[in-house]
Amino acid sequence: MKIAFFSTKPYDKTFFNKYNETYGFELEFWETHLGPHIVNAITEGTEVVCVFVNDKLTEEVIDIMAAKGVKVIALRCAGFNNVQLETAKKHGIRICRVPAYSPEAVAEHAVAMLLTLNRKTHKAYNRVREQNFSLNGLLGFNLHGRTVGIIGTGKIGKAFIKIMLGFGCKILAYDIFEDDSLTAIGVQYLPFDEVLAHSDILSLHCPLTIENHYLINESTIANMKKGVTLINTSRGGLIKTHDVIQALKSGHIAYLGIDVYEQEEKLFFKDLSGSIIENDEIQRLMSFSNVLVTGHQAFFTEEALSQIASITLNSVDHLIRGTVPEDQSVLLA
Ligand code: NAI
Repeated sequence: MKIAFFSTKPYDKTFFNKYNETYGFELEFWETHLGPHIVNAITEGTEVVCVFVNDKLTEEVIDIMAAKGVKVIALRCAGFNNVQLETAKKHGIRICRVPAYSPEAVAEHAVAMLLTLNRKTHKAYNRVREQNFSLNGLLGFNLHGRTVGIIGTGKIGKAFIKIMLGFGCKILAYDIFEDDSLTAIGVQYLPFDEVLAHSDILSLHCPLTIENHYLINESTIANMKKGVTLINTSRGGLIKTHDVIQALKSGHIAYLGIDVYEQEEKLFFKDLSGSIIENDEIQRLMSFSNVLVTGHQAFFTEEALSQIASITLNSVDHLIRGTVPEDQSVLLA
């Protein structure tokens, strides 16, 4: 049974080859993204296509995959906003994803971004290497006693909240479903606008949907406290970059940490150090000293990659045999 992997990097091969020792599937690794330009290259006998966050499974792509006999789409990530589910359903293609792979990995990265920004360790690192031990310009602020607003209190949001409670922060939250176990540990759920209005720090942990595209825009930023810190490890499309740049220039947003970017598919996961980047907004963002950009690495820990490989191969094994695993990894059975 053959699985074609798209958008693969050396570390994907390492972890999938290791966990495939149990199954013995034939694995075919492609470096390119999956999209209309390459879908016709899927070779005969490929029953499963395994994709990542920036592969584009549009109606056109899925129609061609179905005609080639693909039976399963395996997303080796949590989000599935890049897949036309209705088209897959129409063709009877089954879909699985990895609903949770170490939510702590992403939550801890969000905390790492926050601690970098509030204590300016990114500046200190460069300064000390130049033998400059001056503290001017490195003044930070305590997290203890600050109000942190969380948008989306699912697995990652919850892991992030637990860490922030340890810092002695007050937690406000907004989610379309409230989690009683969080209320029990002191989290206060409020309407979205009120969370924005009362938070010193905001961290986004909801999925990207049609409804919440550009959730953070000129009008919602106007509702935030002046001097707010904004962290986004969720999906780039939650933020209207143009409006955030204006807010950084005016000082309304004092610090920004993003691991995701609305046009990241042309940039992230690639070494572009020898290229000219034409995207002006990312260049502008990277020029601010109070902005930290990482290239979608929040998930990137040994624990998470092990879970991604083992959960994906287990789900594929089930779906190919016509059974459904019990771990909630199946989107379309
Ligand atoms: P989850 O499904 O456990 O939680 C998402 C929560 O968001 C749910 O409680 C849901 O009710 C809530 N929600 C949905 N729409 C909302 C809205 N409009 N406003 C407020 N809340 C809303 O998902 P999980 O595992 O916590 O992941 C969250 C997101 O993190 C994923 O959708 C994905 O986009 C992103 N992610 C990023 C990674 C990275 O490496 N940067 C890695 C993994 C996930």
